[in-house]
Amino acid sequence: MGDIVRMGIVGAGTIAQRGIMPHLAVDDMRDKVKLQAVCDPVPGRAAAAAEQYEMAFSSESYEDLLEKGDVDAVSICSPIGLHYEQGMMALEAGKHIHFNKTMTTTVAEADELIALAEKKGLKIVASPGEVLRPQVQAVRRAIAEGKIGIPVWAIAGAGFGTYHLDEPERRGKGSVPAIDPSWYFRKPGGGPLYDMSVYAFHGMTTVLGPVKRVSAVSGIVVPERTFADKTVKTEADDNTGILMDFGNGLFAVGFGSAAGSTNWWFTGTYFGTDGKIEGFNLNGEELEYPERPISDANGGGVAGAQATLPHVVGDHVGMEEAHVFEDVAQLIDWVRDDKASPVTAQHARHVIDIVESAYRAAETGQTQELTTTFERN
Ligand SMILES: NC(=O)c1ccc[n+]([C@@H]2O[C@H](COP(=O)([O-])OP(=O)(O)OC[C@H]3O[C@@H](n4cnc5c(N)ncnc54)[C@H](O)[C@@H]3O)[C@@H](O)[C@H]2O)c1
Repeated sequence: MGDIVRMGIVGAGTIAQRGIMPHLAVDDMRDKVKLQAVCDPVPGRAAAAAEQYEMAFSSESYEDLLEKGDVDAVSICSPIGLHYEQGMMALEAGKHIHFNKTMTTTVAEADELIALAEKKGLKIVASPGEVLRPQVQAVRRAIAEGKIGIPVWAIAGAGFGTYHLDEPERRGKGSVPAIDPSWYFRKPGGGPLYDMSVYAFHGMTTVLGPVKRVSAVSGIVVPERTFADKTVKTEADDNTGILMDFGNGLFAVGFGSAAGSTNWWFTGTYFGTDGKIEGFNLNGEELEYPERPISDANGGGVAGAQATLPHVVGDHVGMEEAHVFEDVAQLIDWVRDDKASPVTAQHARHVIDIVESAYRAAETGQTQELTTTFERN
């Protein structure tokens, strides 16, 4: 095992405050990671985080963090539209990266990041690590074992609702201002596909494999939203329906909607000639998998499933956003023991391809062939 990984937090907003810093500060991480540095351009936000988590360095500048923060790796917790540029800067500076989803908004950007990381011998873990979920792997196994006959079609996606307008962390604290969610409704990087549906698409492609081509319709249905008495205009599509072709006649419907979803969480429904899997239920009965007793012991459902992730033990069980912590922990282990994580940048790139190609299909009215693929773990 290697040294303690010195971690830099890029953006001290909602996910950093709710999901990343609290988990990395738990005692059982002390021998593996040090919360070393944090940056955020909003005056006072990084300093407040540094004080709360006893971090040695804070700045309003990302360049400063890379130059003077003494970090080995960064967790990029900024708006999605900044991830590509910040990722390239981190790699140029010799830092390993955990990307909060989504890594980039285009395949071309993902290609550049992957190539530079390879050239520099640096590691990228790109959330969301749905491949790590024993339930997703159980769905994949059940289909491979013929439990629903020949798979015929599937549906998976997510609805925005008012989630990012209502998160409690967004309310300001003392002199530190409220965390503005406007970017979730702007380009590049806004909209429910890059933020939420990517969970569903990572899960569905883990189960069914890579997509070959897509067609789509897309638009804006809620023209504005309100946050802290401010009107936020919607500029990125908030309602997209995608048809995905997996080959051999198998298709899926993917969606990123302004409101409404099919299943709880981001799980899919898979229909076959002899049955269906809906969420984690096979023909109405909960799927069996080795880690299920852990889920059951933790109340089942979303909370129970979090507890079946490999690093979500002890105090981490029951803490919020444990799946995000799991992905950061994957990078920390990989840096320390040089054993590659199953959460790959190539898989993230393929999901980015689905989203980017869907927008292009909607814009042009033409079906788009995907140019990427990935090895299933
Ligand atoms: N909120 C969630 O539930 C959630 C869950 C999982 C993952 N994520 C992902 O985490 C990322 C951040 O989301 P969020 O909800 O925390 O956003 P947020 O708006 O709450 O926070 C983003 C933070 O980044 C800061 N920032 C802006 N420009 C910056 C820059 N140039 N350098 C450094 N920091 C900068 C902002 O000031 C803000 O504090 C996104 O990729 C999102 O998809 C969010």
